[in-house]
Amino acid sequence: MTTTRTVLITGASAGIGAAFARHAASEGCDLLLVARRETRLRDLADDLSRTHGIRSEIFAVDLADPDAPGKIVDFVAANDLTIDVLINNAGLSRNTTFADTSWSDLGAEIQIMVTAITELASSVIPGMRQRRWGRIINVSSIAALLPPAPGLLYTAIKRYGFDLSQSLDMELKPHGIHVTALCPGFTHTEFHDVMGTREAAQDIPAFLWSKPETVARAGWKAVMAGNPICVPGIANKILAATTRPVPLRFHPRLAKAFDPFQP
Ligand SMILES: NC(=O)c1ccc[n+]([C@@H]2O[C@H](COP(=O)([O-])OP(=O)(O)OC[C@H]3O[C@@H](n4cnc5c(N)ncnc54)[C@H](OP(=O)(O)O)[C@@H]3O)[C@@H](O)[C@H]2O)c1
Repeated sequence: MTTTRTVLITGASAGIGAAFARHAASEGCDLLLVARRETRLRDLADDLSRTHGIRSEIFAVDLADPDAPGKIVDFVAANDLTIDVLINNAGLSRNTTFADTSWSDLGAEIQIMVTAITELASSVIPGMRQRRWGRIINVSSIAALLPPAPGLLYTAIKRYGFDLSQSLDMELKPHGIHVTALCPGFTHTEFHDVMGTREAAQDIPAFLWSKPETVARAGWKAVMAGNPICVPGIANKILAATTRPVPLRFHPRLAKAFDPFQP
């Protein structure tokens, strides 16, 4: 990239988001890193600024708070930042089924992975369109391409991000904006610690796992090339390609077979 671009990454304090931050910094981009854990964000931002000579800003906020996207937009304006690349990455899943999860927790998932990603996209797109250049990655999941797991809101949420990305990409490509749904499979991050499934995750075969750096690099390459869907890793590509043609009436049976976290 010749112009210095600014990249807003949510969920940058760990895992895939932190890997995106390291990759974007190595490309010479300035950064705005968002998550709740301020010290983690500060340490990463300082390290990347020192190593790559870039500007790194941080904004610590809980994206489950409906006011969070607005606060990020205010921070962008107050600090004279122009967002060229938006990476909607923050996310989590839970180890409880829908019926056993409180509305407060379900609502937070929707706020973080549906409402906030949509509001942030809506806030950066007008500027991108004016400048005729923009890139947006919505970190979805391979779950969006597989039959829905029993009782998991997460699958429906990730399908939303997947469909939104394609729809926006079709609308905005003529304006110089590319939107990509990044659909990782199992990735070595804190995701399963947060979900409480670390033990079950240890039984998943090694060939199904990716490194966060590999996932971030693949997503970055895809959005820069204008590819609206990115499924990183050969095993995930095969899984997605072989499942999609299966008739819908067989999906419930497949769903049970694919879900390693259900009893
Ligand atoms: N790892 C996998 O196997 C996998 C597979 C497919 C898709 N994904 C998707 O990849 C994305 C990144 O996950 P990851 O694997 O990198 O997990 P991770 O290591 O647990 O990182 C999740 C990030 O999201 C942030 N986050 C979570 N809740 C937040 C909130 N309420 N407000 C602000 N930030 C919040 C966390 O920061 P704080 O805790 O500091 O707030 C953290 O930076 C997620 O959207 C996930 O669904 C992961």
